[in-house]
Amino acid sequence: MIITIDGPAGSGKSTIAKMIAKELGFTYIDTGAMYRAVALKIKRKGIDPDDIRSVLKTLKETDIDLRPSENGVRVLLDGEDVSDLIRTEEIGKIASKIARYPEVRKILVQMQRSLGEKAKNAVLEGRDTGTVIFPDAEIKFFFTASPEVRAERRYKELKEKGINVSYVDILKEIKERDFLDETRKDSPLKPADDAIVIDTTGKSLSQVFQEVLQIIKEKT
Ligand code: C5P
Repeated sequence: MIITIDGPAGSGKSTIAKMIAKELGFTYIDTGAMYRAVALKIKRKGIDPDDIRSVLKTLKETDIDLRPSENGVRVLLDGEDVSDLIRTEEIGKIASKIARYPEVRKILVQMQRSLGEKAKNAVLEGRDTGTVIFPDAEIKFFFTASPEVRAERRYKELKEKGINVSYVDILKEIKERDFLDETRKDSPLKPADDAIVIDTTGKSLSQVFQEVLQIIKEKT
């Protein structure tokens, strides 16, 4: 069974996807981590994210792997564990830039689809997991929340990790990333027609978790 959760940055989809996967014993597939891993590599190589030819060349020479771990997933970039290094807003922004290219998406979507097929039972989260990667997924969710609430969550998350950031900068970056993700021509961020939309504004994690779990139970 395939469950998909799409939505913008900070909507709570990653945390809930991990919790649901753990609860059901499913494989958790973080599709955004793969865009981020490529973004980290092109940043390290000093490649301009607008230089599609170089981005594509780099991607074709890159090995990305997701390994299940105790608290979710470890991300391996050419064998190196980059799980923590990819979690900055800067890498998120570069990821959104390279995610505009259909050629980049095609390669990553193929990898993501085959990870899901191999797992058989999986929870995928991202921007296009229910619209493009698995349009026939059994259960699809789309999470939303106001930009302010999402920025607040991201701010707290980064602060807890000891990363020094300003709320105003995060809000700005979240809005910029929303704009890039919602307006791109290929696979823009939008709910699948058959997705269940959940507004997580004002809800605690455990409330959202219970709501999602209840829906899954009703549908299976
Ligand atoms: O979800 P996360 O913030 O880690 O994703 C980083 C970026 O990768 C997103 O802003 C989006 O541009 C891109 N992405 C995508 N399709 C996905 C997952 C992520 O375009 N399925």
